[in-house]
Amino acid sequence: MPSPTRRLRLAPSLLSADFAALGDAVRAAEAGGADALHLDVMDGHFVPNLSFGPALVAAVRARTRLPLDVHLMISDPLRYLDAFHRAGGDTLVFHVESDSDPAEVVRRAHALGSAVGGAISPETPLAALDPVFDALDQVLVMSVHPGFSGQEFLPDVLPKVRAARERLDRAGRNADVSIDGGITAATAVRAAEAGATFFVCGNSVFAHGSVGENLRRLRAAVEEGAQRAVP
Ligand code: DX5
Ligand code: ZN
Repeated sequence: MPSPTRRLRLAPSLLSADFAALGDAVRAAEAGGADALHLDVMDGHFVPNLSFGPALVAAVRARTRLPLDVHLMISDPLRYLDAFHRAGGDTLVFHVESDSDPAEVVRRAHALGSAVGGAISPETPLAALDPVFDALDQVLVMSVHPGFSGQEFLPDVLPKVRAARERLDRAGRNADVSIDGGITAATAVRAAEAGATFFVCGNSVFAHGSVGENLRRLRAAVEEGAQRAVP
């Protein structure tokens, strides 16, 4: 059963920030009440875009104490877990569609002392995470096709959010269900209502207006959605 006291966290995605002023973006997010930062790592192979690697994660780590959620949109996450852990990533999120063995990724991440998230792209069923579901600290449901910020939210993924939340609730676990892609105040309400607890927000935080005001609007939205979820 959904709980009104469940912790709801906002994680601005730095992919939407000005890379030439990343320190300012980190400071603004922190001052605006962000609960974590989301860092999108892309290899130009698993997704048709390139972003950044461990050096940038380390540079962000040096500027903030916020938890760093590292989203590995790369073909061989297993190979890079150590590097992103050393760089200061707190949660290492891999894609179940990648080439690495999910069980091995989870085992290795936990051996490093890192939290681990399993991500599924919009077409991937939640069942693809079955072999590792019970060991995950976060289930990340992609609500856009991975690769770019600023895309439109795909509402068809919401039943997966609901199913993941129900499965965690049934097991008495409070791992996060994370929603990533196209999150605005309007879509955040729906994701929270479906049971998401961790909200990755790129353009809705950094593209327009004030980071602090944008975060306040998103905070109100997720709280409203979570309230609606309470029977
Ligand atoms: C997309 C990334 C997302 C993206 C979110 O591949 O995983 O984290 O940066 O950006 P918005 O919120 O603009 O969709
Ligand atoms: Zn992401």
